[in-house]
Amino acid sequence: MYPLRRHRRLRQSQAIRHLVRETILTPSDFLVPLFVVEGKGVQEAIPSMPGYFRYSLDLLEKEVKTLWSMGLCGVLVFVKVPDHLKDNAGTEALNPKGLMQRAVQTIKAACPEMLVMTDVALDPYSSYGHDGIVEGTEILNDETVEVLAEMALSHAQAGADFVAPSDMMDGRILSIREALEEADYTHTGIMSYSAKYASAFYGPFRDALDSAPGFGDKKTYQMDSANRFEALEEAQADIDEGADIIMVKPGICYLDIVRELKNEIDVPIAVYQVSGEYAMIKAAAEKGWLDHDAVMMEQLLAIKRAGANIIASYFAKEAVALMG
Ligand code: PBG
Repeated sequence: MYPLRRHRRLRQSQAIRHLVRETILTPSDFLVPLFVVEGKGVQEAIPSMPGYFRYSLDLLEKEVKTLWSMGLCGVLVFVKVPDHLKDNAGTEALNPKGLMQRAVQTIKAACPEMLVMTDVALDPYSSYGHDGIVEGTEILNDETVEVLAEMALSHAQAGADFVAPSDMMDGRILSIREALEEADYTHTGIMSYSAKYASAFYGPFRDALDSAPGFGDKKTYQMDSANRFEALEEAQADIDEGADIIMVKPGICYLDIVRELKNEIDVPIAVYQVSGEYAMIKAAAEKGWLDHDAVMMEQLLAIKRAGANIIASYFAKEAVALMG
């Protein structure tokens, strides 16, 4: 006798497939990373990220309005800092009139309801390209955390809804939370890059911001790709210190971590599909080796299926355009 259960019954038409679909991507799943530069009328291509650009503030305003009109309601802001403003103390990061602070104000003025999250880390401001203050070959933890707390407060004062520390120093979530509370920014949220791995997939991003480390690598602060339990430790510590959202980064190679965290903890989880993941799909598609749109959607869906509540992705706009 044939089996009573024939799984193909639920696959035989698009209508039934859609009816029983377990995971559905929507525009509100996404955070859009934005790269900002000084100048006017600037839309700079990033060679290792085809189709992605750095915008000056005037064009950023336009871009944000476009995103909002597409149903994309959150952005994650990064700035490219001119070399002469970089040092080993993060001085420019604290400038109330700095590019990040102005970018936040510009976005909020153009689109008040857009959720604005800011990157908190020293690497774009560092003459060494490291996420912290450097002494010899060491990246100092506690000294860096002090600057990060001030930096986060400065972003909140500029109007950021959430700050997103991506540096992986220990104890920074608590210090940032305390700084925000003391200054009465009780409503400003923290999205912590909790399980951020020392990954080779960040290369194109470092091109975009000109922020590659000048010496060594980031393995003394970012996590070892081999580790799983450590991700749970990091996430729990960040939640205990006051993180509202935790993040896993990169995406596709770390979906086991996403699922594990999803099963263990209750705060929303963000996943960052990083620059190298974007570049790989673009490159393979350019060669005609992969179907760009199909692979893009499959990966985004996999990220959500693994347990992501929020997906930061350079594909956000293209994916939403395909959703129709
Ligand atoms: C640095 C930072 C990095 C990314 C986000 N924030 C790079 C790094 O750690 O060197 C990578 C994002 C991407 O590759 O898309 N604070």
